[in-house]
Amino acid sequence: MAAAGAGIFVTFEGGEGAGKSTQLGLLGARLRTQGKGVVETREPGGPIRSLLVQGDRAWMPMTEALLHFAARAEHLAETVLPALEDGSWVLCDRFADSTMAYQGYAQGLGRGPVEKLYELVVGRLRPHLTLILDIPVELGLDRAIRRDVRETRYERMGQDFHEKLRDAFRDIARREPERCVVINADQPVEDVHEAVWAAVRRRLTVA
Ligand code: TMP
Repeated sequence: MAAAGAGIFVTFEGGEGAGKSTQLGLLGARLRTQGKGVVETREPGGPIRSLLVQGDRAWMPMTEALLHFAARAEHLAETVLPALEDGSWVLCDRFADSTMAYQGYAQGLGRGPVEKLYELVVGRLRPHLTLILDIPVELGLDRAIRRDVRETRYERMGQDFHEKLRDAFRDIARREPERCVVINADQPVEDVHEAVWAAVRRRLTVA
């Protein structure tokens, strides 16, 4: 079961500083040159975002997962589902695999609770394609912390946490190879983009 409506739902996932938003923008631009309608969006969004990415509050992993799914419920209803119904390509910077990797694996909540929340909030909708940008932890963290001085709550969770995350995303890809493609993001931006484009062309109907 893929996405609702006639649109195409593509998610970008991975650890910190892997270049997701840059790659999302490049893919969006390339699709537009082919005449596609594209909506670019990201999670977590809205007023819940600042609770999660700023400061250093130690939420319980369940609280954190609930907050991410609360933001996701709004985002699905306001942005993702209407755009898919319209037939657009929806390119989303992070989606539920981030909750699985960050809260489920790295924060120790486990797969089960995240799967239940998924069913409750997202239901049968699945991305058509998930691009997991993979990069060595130190390199990604270095990039991410230089880029943003305010939204560092997750970046500051330590090397071990981020190594767990990297393994988590790889495990998610292993479990769902028909949906996920792991992209080596430790290469020049244009080369990563070509790998993204190749995956999109291989898995989806572009032209
Ligand atoms: P961003 O920096 O990619 O915009 O994402 C914000 C942070 O939120 C990032 O450190 C990953 C984290 N996050 C989770 O922990 N769980 C989630 O479900 C999502 C969507 C993001």
